[in-house]
This record gives sequence, C-alpha cells and structure tokens, in this order.
Amino acid sequence: MDKLVIEGGVKLKGEVTISGAKNAVLPILAATLLTDEPCVIKGVPNLRDTVSMLKILRALGKNAEFEKGRVNVTRGKFHSHFAEYRLVSTMRASFCVLGPLLGKLKKAKVSLPGGCVIGVRPVDLHLKGISALGADISIDSGYVIARAGNLRGSYIYLGGIYGSSVLATDNVMMAAVLAKGKTTIESAACEPEVADLAEFLIKMGAKIKGHGTPVIEIEGVKHLHGAAHTIIPDRIEAGTMILAALITGGDILVKNVQYQHLGALIDKLSEAGAALEHRDGILRARGTRRLKPVNITTLPYPGFPTDMQAQMMSLMSVTPGISLITEKIYPDRFMHVAELNRMGAHIQREGPHAIVEGVKKLSGAPVMASDLRASAGLVLAGLSARGNTSISRIYHLERGYESIEEKLINLGAKVWREKE
Ligand code: EPZ
Repeated sequence: MDKLVIEGGVKLKGEVTISGAKNAVLPILAATLLTDEPCVIKGVPNLRDTVSMLKILRALGKNAEFEKGRVNVTRGKFHSHFAEYRLVSTMRASFCVLGPLLGKLKKAKVSLPGGCVIGVRPVDLHLKGISALGADISIDSGYVIARAGNLRGSYIYLGGIYGSSVLATDNVMMAAVLAKGKTTIESAACEPEVADLAEFLIKMGAKIKGHGTPVIEIEGVKHLHGAAHTIIPDRIEAGTMILAALITGGDILVKNVQYQHLGALIDKLSEAGAALEHRDGILRARGTRRLKPVNITTLPYPGFPTDMQAQMMSLMSVTPGISLITEKIYPDRFMHVAELNRMGAHIQREGPHAIVEGVKKLSGAPVMASDLRASAGLVLAGLSARGNTSISRIYHLERGYESIEEKLINLGAKVWREKE
C-alpha cells in the first residue's frame, strides 16, 4: 500500500479545476440499469468508487466503457438482478442499484452494505420506501431480496432520526419512476447530487418535480430511454480546495464550481473572515487574513455538509480561539480527531461535539487515514504543518478525489508517494 508524504509550509497558489461529483455519478451510473438503451455520462471523475460502480454494472449485465471522463453504458448479453457481497461491500453506495433493479426487473437481490468507520449506516429508510411502492422484501444471509409484480405509486415519508437520507431518496426515486401512478416523497434529501440524478432520469423520460426540495413528486411512466448527461461539479472537492488556500495562506482560483451549492460553507468561511470572491463559475480563495474561530453543526443540505466537517476541523485547529464542531449526521465521524491531535492539535471530543482550541502551528507526523473525508482533513493539516506528514492507507483518499496529488503539486505543494 502507498502512503502520501507532504512537506508542509508551502502557500498554495494557482488554478485548480474541480472534477465531477462522486456522489452524483454513482447513483446516475446505477440509473442506467433502468433502460436497455445506450447512455453517455460525461464529466465522470476517475475514482476508485467510479471503477467499483462500473464493475457492478458489468456484473449486472451492462457493457460499460470509461475513457477520458466519459462513460458509455450499453445493454450486454444478459440481465442479472444479483449484486453480490464481494462487490457491494467495497462501496456502500452500490446499494443504490436496489431501486433501479426493482424498477426495471421487478426483482433484486442486493447485499446489505457493511457499516464503516463513520457509522452503522442503516438502510431502514431505503427498505421503508421500496416496500411502500409494493415490493415484498426479505432479508436472508446478508442480502435484501425484493420482488414486485408491479410497483405502484405511493406517498412516502422518508425522514429518519437524522433527517433525510441521500441514497434512500435516490433508491426510492429510481424505483418509483417506472411504478404505476404517482409517488410523493416527503422529507426527501435536497442535496444537489439528488437533483442531478433527477435531471438525468428526466432526460431518460421520467416525470419528476420538486427535486432539490423536501417534497419530490414522481408520475410513473412505462418506459425509459437512453440519455446523455454531464455530471455536476463536486462541491466537496471544491470546498476542500478552498480550505487548502486558507490553511496554507495561499491564493487559489477554483474553477468549475457551482457557487450556489456551497452556501453553508461560504457562509461559515465569511463569518470566519475569509477572503472569497466569485465570478462566472470561478471562485478565488486567499488565505491572507487571520481567521476567527467559528462553530459548525453539520445538517442535511442546505445545512453545513458532514462531508466538509473533517476539513473544517483541520482549518479550525490552526485558527486561534475556540471552535465547537457538532456532527449531527454521523455522531461518530471523528476518527480524524486523534490523528490531528498527534500533529499537535488541541481537540477534545465530547459525544457528537468536538471542542477545537486553535494552535499556532501543527507539526508533521505519520498519521493514518480512516475514511475519505478524514483523509482530506489530514492532507489539509499536512499542507499547513511544520515538517513532513506521511498519511498511510491513502486508498481512502483515492475513492473520492480525482488526481489529488497532481492537483496539489500544480498548486506548488510538496507532495509525493512512498511505499508503506
Ligand atoms: C450520502 O451517503 C453520501 N454518499 C455521503 O458521502 C454523505 O456523507 C451522506 O450522504 C450525508 O450527506 C453518497 O452519496 C455516495 P444518508 P448516504 O443516507 O446516502 C442515516 C462521502 O464522503 N440513515 O444521507 O449513505 C445515516 O446513518 C460520503 O462522499 C438512516 O438512519 O447517507 C446518517 O446518519 C460519506 N437510515 C443519515 O441518515 C437509512 O436508511 C444520513 O445518511 C439511511 C440513512
């Protein structure tokens, strides 16, 4: 396995172009299961998770070619409704093949996804939604087995104890588009990636309204045809690069950004006193000013994204003063706290809260990545620390950040790979 080594202290300067959104491309690739006609998806980031999803599509009978950011999906020689543990366990997002398999084939056998370090990650809302559409569901030997002679539209309240669910909304939407009649999803996830999936489904002939709001209405249709679609930019990668400018005292032009997807982050960074300018899809972030500490609470979109929590914690760990970070989506999503403290941060965890006392400078150290966004937080910490930081298990990082080393090196970072 490789580790990433970062020699900290360089002010990052220059331009970076944001790749397509991981959390949009995964359900959109799954949605190609809803038709036998060809689909072309552009702006696809070359990530471990993208490759995992393509493997699953092929196992389910699709031909899927991926070249230079473009995926061509066409009908293969067979149809399978069986998504096996070996494939689903590598990436929990694969669970979002359940809805399209049920919608298209009226049956599905999908491995229950494992939990991961950020939480148990139940799927009760997914199952509640598809059974409301008329599916008979059983759980056997770690698999969800779902059958539906005919799916029929229904009213579904999809809010859980932590609020809305992104992939449950995706799964229910993809099962409902071919159901008979009207489906209303109440307390739907409003994330831009859910709206992007809906836009792709509409291009395939689905009738959907209200996507991006808490109430999504779907009028079932008989058939969906192939479509072409370009994935929206990855707002979490954009946020990570903005923080890279701020934490290193640099000056970065972040290109291919949908500013309106970054509302909560921009609001918090402005409150902290960050210098941010935006024009025509380009955002300039300069780390010229001394920032003030801010309190963060993660919430479903449009609230502050949980996927930016670790990165923000790194920034606050070198911002003088006390910041309180409250994690309301995954209360255990604090694996990065111990690693940041090994770099000299002063962070105290109290249940779903982390109290961050900013220090002048972190010191480089060997640290371990535990999940995708914790890795991103450690990269930011390493970029600003004195000395070298080596981050092991960087396959976590490769799941969600396309060409991250090249992008950072192009901004002047001293980053290289070493064998563990
Ligand atoms: C999506 O995961 C994202 N992944 C996650 O990004 C992101 O952190 C998360 O949404 C929240 O924004 C993809 O889109 C592939 P949820 P998802 O269902 O859909 C609970 C990353 O780093 N819940 O919105 O699996 C759940 O435990 C990844 O890119 C239930 O209780 O998350 C959590 O507390 C990490 N029952 C909350 O809801 C359910 O049936 C939100 O989870 C489903 C979820």
